[in-house]
Amino acid sequence: MAERGQFSSKIGFLLAATGSAVGLGNIWGFPTQAASNGGAAFLLVYLILAFVLAYPALMAELTIGRHARANVVTALAQLHPSALMHKAGLAVGVGALSVAVFILSFYAIVTGWMLAEFLSPAAQLLQLHKTAHWLDAQSFSRNLLMCAVMSGLTITIIARGVEKGIEAWSTRLMPALFLILLGMIGYVFTQPGATDGLRVYLVPDLSRLSDPGLILSAMGQAFFSLSLGVGTMLIYGSYLRDTDNLPRMGASVTLLDTGFAFTAGLLILPAIYVAQAQGITVFNSDGALMAGPDLIFQVLPALFDSMGTAGSWLALAFFALMSIAALTSAISLLEVPVSVAVERWGINRPLAACLSGAVIFMISGIIIAQHDKIFSAVITLTTEYGQPLLGVALCLFAGWALHRDQLLKELRKGNPNLESSFFWRIWPFYVKFICPLLILTTFVQSLR
Ligand code: PHE
Repeated sequence: MAERGQFSSKIGFLLAATGSAVGLGNIWGFPTQAASNGGAAFLLVYLILAFVLAYPALMAELTIGRHARANVVTALAQLHPSALMHKAGLAVGVGALSVAVFILSFYAIVTGWMLAEFLSPAAQLLQLHKTAHWLDAQSFSRNLLMCAVMSGLTITIIARGVEKGIEAWSTRLMPALFLILLGMIGYVFTQPGATDGLRVYLVPDLSRLSDPGLILSAMGQAFFSLSLGVGTMLIYGSYLRDTDNLPRMGASVTLLDTGFAFTAGLLILPAIYVAQAQGITVFNSDGALMAGPDLIFQVLPALFDSMGTAGSWLALAFFALMSIAALTSAISLLEVPVSVAVERWGINRPLAACLSGAVIFMISGIIIAQHDKIFSAVITLTTEYGQPLLGVALCLFAGWALHRDQLLKELRKGNPNLESSFFWRIWPFYVKFICPLLILTTFVQSLR
């Protein structure tokens, strides 16, 4: 079998893992959830959960990944020598693989929408009004074609491997992403109404803290945003070098991801209120701030339209931002089935990328054709049920299938002073008992 890929540098891994984590969940999901859940109150709960629940779970994935140096199915199946644990590992591994495939199948559709919204103002600027209009309106053909283009890009990057594909592209795209975000924030801040948005975002409505729904939304958001439960972080961890300090890498990814979500809020919330100052409707009939698709496809485009040519450039920048963020997340999702195909079935990487990509594209096609019936069900099942439950399973595997000595040996690599660290005093016990219990409790609460 060909040699396993590896990230060539710390920064390469950081950008790739942050590229996976930072996606539509940060730029679209987080700010609008914050806006409709008490602003800074949500931010506070989100930050706490990200570090208290999601970071330990991320560490479970990174540690299992680097210890096993294998894809999610093989890694979990071989973690413990007993036959029972082997079977359990296979089952959880296949579960994670399937959830990754289904997440990518809807994620690729939404990524395609972003591409269409990016190309539309470009066509407008080129005076291609008919094309711009076609790109702007939801249709089966547009959605399928745009999804195909984004899937093709994802496949091409993944086919090139860890260093030349994932790392090289994340290193190019992530700085671009950050610059576009900062540039847009700078512009939006100069517009009337922006400070109202900032106030809503940053002044906490503490009465919302008692809302049980808020904690659940924040947990779901944290798990989705850190790409947990589906083996993406596990496989990226498996490409890390032995000289890298795992707890520090994980903490950096968590910080960068939450930092990015926070910064995206500094763009989206002010933009909503700038739109309101322009006379655009930003509240639903029931008085709630518009979120989800209404925000992205009505409020923001209406805002851009009201700004003339500058607006077309802004729209271009904004949807470039969304497309790039989504692409670096999509590649991490495709790496999950591709690594399984390469390592378990011995298929070569380019072929594995094409085959997995094609299967996922077919599922996307079915979802596009049956949008009203299945689109939101696939999202709910995978992100609200699949991710937290698999997250629990992965914590349990790290805590119970690996012996304390094995954990120590793995985490000591690149971190010789581990034993005297706060992390080592807390994490092994935490990931074994507390983290799974806390996730499960939050999850069960939500079912009632
Ligand atoms: N973290 C990505 C986002 O915030 C989504 C994602 C989920 C990516 C699961 C990989 C795995 O948009």
